[in-house]
Amino acid sequence: MFLGGLLRRYRPKTLLEVGVSAGGSSALLLHVLDRLDMESEVVSVDLSERWNKDAAFATGWAAKKLYPEKKNWRLYTGKFLPEIIEELNLEFDFCFLDTVHALPGELLDYLVVLPFMPEGSIMAMHDTSLYYQVKDALATRVLYDASVGKKIIPPQLTQNDANLSAFQITDETYKHVVNIFSALYMPWAYLLDAPQFHIYHTFFKKYYGEEAAEWFTRSRDWNNKHWIKTRVREKFPIPRRSSPAEGQ
Ligand SMILES: C[S@@+](CC[C@H](N)C(=O)[O-])C[C@H]1O[C@@H](n2cnc3c(N)ncnc32)[C@H](O)[C@@H]1O
Repeated sequence: MFLGGLLRRYRPKTLLEVGVSAGGSSALLLHVLDRLDMESEVVSVDLSERWNKDAAFATGWAAKKLYPEKKNWRLYTGKFLPEIIEELNLEFDFCFLDTVHALPGELLDYLVVLPFMPEGSIMAMHDTSLYYQVKDALATRVLYDASVGKKIIPPQLTQNDANLSAFQITDETYKHVVNIFSALYMPWAYLLDAPQFHIYHTFFKKYYGEEAAEWFTRSRDWNNKHWIKTRVREKFPIPRRSSPAEGQ
């Protein structure tokens, strides 16, 4: 209802979805656009070529089954967003982020898509309250709270209501993008391998400049150190020294 309401109110012409899985949200977007008689273009991107729940199926299989002939839907799999976005040669007035959920996760792709979204466009994201159920699933909540824009907040009566969030991009969104680079200093739940780091670093340097790329490098370095230290401590805990009383 929330996503459908956003489409009805803002009537976007070019939509980007990052994180497809079986294609549930792709199908939802296509269905609502149909119902609204809108011929908007939908671009869906997923890192995985195979469905994350069962590799026997291709990513997006359910949406393809429901909409085999859709001319206004394009699905790209097997690549990171920064490897694709420039070739698309599009500006997006709606984006739906729904990928890793753990930090750095969606923060990275938000920074990738933002230069391609004009003022007035809508940034929506899923799982902004998932951390109550899933450990470390904080990324979209951090992103939502660190970003600046005209927040569109559904009634927060249940955790489900709070699990989808959106905001409208304003000129302040771009001015305060440093907040997102700053949020990258929070502890990450997983580490980036060298190829992924390089792809995003190159992109950030090009679109946000040398200093932003350096922030990204530092956040990676600090997280690598922190991550290794905490994982080693978990694996090899330092035995607590017993007090003289305990020893007796
Ligand atoms: C929660 S599922 C998406 C669910 C889908 N939006 C829906 O509501 O039906 C997350 C998906 O994100 C994909 N993913 C994970 N990391 C990604 C990344 N960096 N870029 C693009 N897709 C990614 C996974 O392969 C998985 O298919």
